[in-house]
Amino acid sequence: MPLPSHVTLVDVGPRDGLQNEKHTVGAADKIELVRRLQRAGLTEIEVTSFVSPKWVPQMADAAEVMAGIERQRGVRYHVLVPNLKGLEAALPTRPDEIVVFGAASEAFSRKNINCTIAESIERFAPVVQAARAKGCKVRGAISCAVGCPYEGDVHPDRVELVVRLMKDIGVQHVGVADTIGVGTPNKVRAAMERALAHYPIAEVSGHFHDTYGQALANIYACLEMGIHVFDASVAGLGGCPYAKGATGNVATEDVVFLLDGLGIETGIELGALVDAGAFISGVLGRPPVSRVARAVLAKRPLAEEL
Ligand code: HMG
Ligand code: MG
Repeated sequence: MPLPSHVTLVDVGPRDGLQNEKHTVGAADKIELVRRLQRAGLTEIEVTSFVSPKWVPQMADAAEVMAGIERQRGVRYHVLVPNLKGLEAALPTRPDEIVVFGAASEAFSRKNINCTIAESIERFAPVVQAARAKGCKVRGAISCAVGCPYEGDVHPDRVELVVRLMKDIGVQHVGVADTIGVGTPNKVRAAMERALAHYPIAEVSGHFHDTYGQALANIYACLEMGIHVFDASVAGLGGCPYAKGATGNVATEDVVFLLDGLGIETGIELGALVDAGAFISGVLGRPPVSRVARAVLAKRPLAEEL
């Protein structure tokens, strides 16, 4: 199969990227990050999550951030919601897409959202119905699709079970997530195949944390399958508070560099994206994790001297 000619990247930096930060990042900085991402050409941005502030304090300002972003035509704004309470808070902030998040591992489901997989589906069902009735698209994230920090290897049968359950309740798109970054191409392919058995290719995406440095290889394996939607996080930020030791998502800069090199169109301008990553890294007081961003930034002073 030829590689896709266009890839859509969803930048999850403002949400996944920041949710696990120890020090509070102010709403104004989150809003500025969203502004810079859209300026770089991102058209899908996961802005925040309407979760319990006791569980994830960093996302307590979800409504303020959604109210503060400068909406741009052609850009879609996604938010996570775990339950009806989250949806009720999210809807007035006019998200284009809501994300319910389940897991292929029982242990992770309990740690992350405090319920079993079956209970999570029961909880999501009215959320999906109500969100769709309000015109929001619904994405379902499936964490631990290849490995779990508590249960180890996760069999593709477990992924397919959750994919089917999500389809049954009306979830329109599934995001297959390697929460702890342990996947390698064959394992990722096997998980993706189970999603593709139930959803069209445009409605299946990959979400790869880069803990073991395998994320770009996994994305390439997905491209070979024709998958053309991926989550990524500017500067390589990210992590889940309930997946200890897992590092950030694959950096958007690294994915864009790969796709540019393959001649695959994204609509994203790498230089402006590096600027967005440098901005938020400055706020956090550390350099970007992205190898591409570091390489681009290292060359800049030289270019300025010429
Ligand atoms: P619970 O404690 O079982 O919920 O948590 P509860 O219904 O018993 O409520 C407990 C308290 O939370 C109550 O407040 C509720 O009002 C409040 P109290 O009466 O004690 O003052 N509450 C809420 N407040 C605000 N917004 C809400 C909300 N719901 C309840 N929506 C719950 C269950 C799901 C709420 C909790 O476990 C939770 O918020 N979990 C979120 C965890 C999370 O955000 N994890 C990270 C995102 S997922 C991720 O990163 C993975 C992903 O990137 C893919 C991948 O990499 O795998 C997507
Ligand atoms: Mg994640």
